Amino acid sequence: MRNINYIAALDYQDMSSKAAQLIAAQLQSKPDSLLGLATGSTPVGMYQNLVSLYRKGAISFDQASSVNLDEYVGLQGEHPQSYRYFMQQHLFDQVDIQLHNTHLPDGTAEDVAAECSRYDRLIEELGRADIQVLGLGHNGHIAFNEPSQSFSGNTHCVALTDSTIEANRRFFKQGEQVPSHALTMGIKQIMGARQIILLVSGGQKAQMLHRAMTGEITPMVPASVLQLHPCVTVIADTPALACFDKEELDGEAYAVEV
Ligand code: F6R
Repeated sequence: MRNINYIAALDYQDMSSKAAQLIAAQLQSKPDSLLGLATGSTPVGMYQNLVSLYRKGAISFDQASSVNLDEYVGLQGEHPQSYRYFMQQHLFDQVDIQLHNTHLPDGTAEDVAAECSRYDRLIEELGRADIQVLGLGHNGHIAFNEPSQSFSGNTHCVALTDSTIEANRRFFKQGEQVPSHALTMGIKQIMGARQIILLVSGGQKAQMLHRAMTGEITPMVPASVLQLHPCVTVIADTPALACFDKEELDGEAYAVEV
C-alpha cells in the first residue's frame, strides 16, 4: 500500500530516535500542534529522546496540546500504572507543556458513559490531531480497540481481552489486580488524525505487523484499518519487519534530521 511509509530502524533505540525526530519536526513546523499520544512500553524511548531534544533547546511543547488514546478504568491519576501517571513521568513533568493542555480520559469517573461523551466533545473541540502515535497490541489492537466484529466509532469502555490483560500484567506488582476495563478512543477518532505513526519493536509482533499492514482489512485485526488512512508511517526495527520483503517496504527507508 502506497499510503504506508516504512522507516526501517536498526533496533529499539533507533526506532525511538527516529520517532522522536518526526515529532520534533512536527513541533518545529507547527509549535501549537495537537499531539495524539500513546502509552505502553513501545513509546518510552521516544519520550526519552523528546525530553533530551527539549533539554537541548531543539524543541518546545509550550504551545502544544496533547490528547491520549486511553486510560484504565478504576485507576486514579496518582496510581503508578495509570496512563496519566505514565505521561506525567515520561513526558509532561519533564518538558514545558502546559498541563491544562494535556488530556486523557478519566478512568475514575463514576458515570462512564458521561465521561466517554465528555472525551468525545473534547476531541471534537480540539480538532484533528496533527500527528497520532500508536503502538501495536500483540492481537492487533490499536489503543484498546480489541479484535471485534466491527470497527468502533467514538470513545467507549472496553473489556480487555485475556491476552491484553496478561500482556499488561508485567507492569503491575505481583498479586496486584490488572484492570479488566479501559476507556479508549474509537477507531473512527484515531483515523481522524492528519498523520499517524505506528511504532513497533521486536520479533514477537512481526507476524501481526505484516498481517495488519498487508492482509485483509478486518475489525478482527483492528490495526488493519490503517491501510485506509492516507498518511501512515510505520517506524519499526529489524526484528519487527522480519516478515516483510523489500518490495513491500517500497525499498525506501528514510529519516528526518532535526
Ligand atoms: C497504549 C495503547 C496500546 C499499546 C499496545 C502496545 O496507550 O493504546 O494499544 O500501544 O498495547 O503496548 P506495548 O507498547 O506495551 O507493547
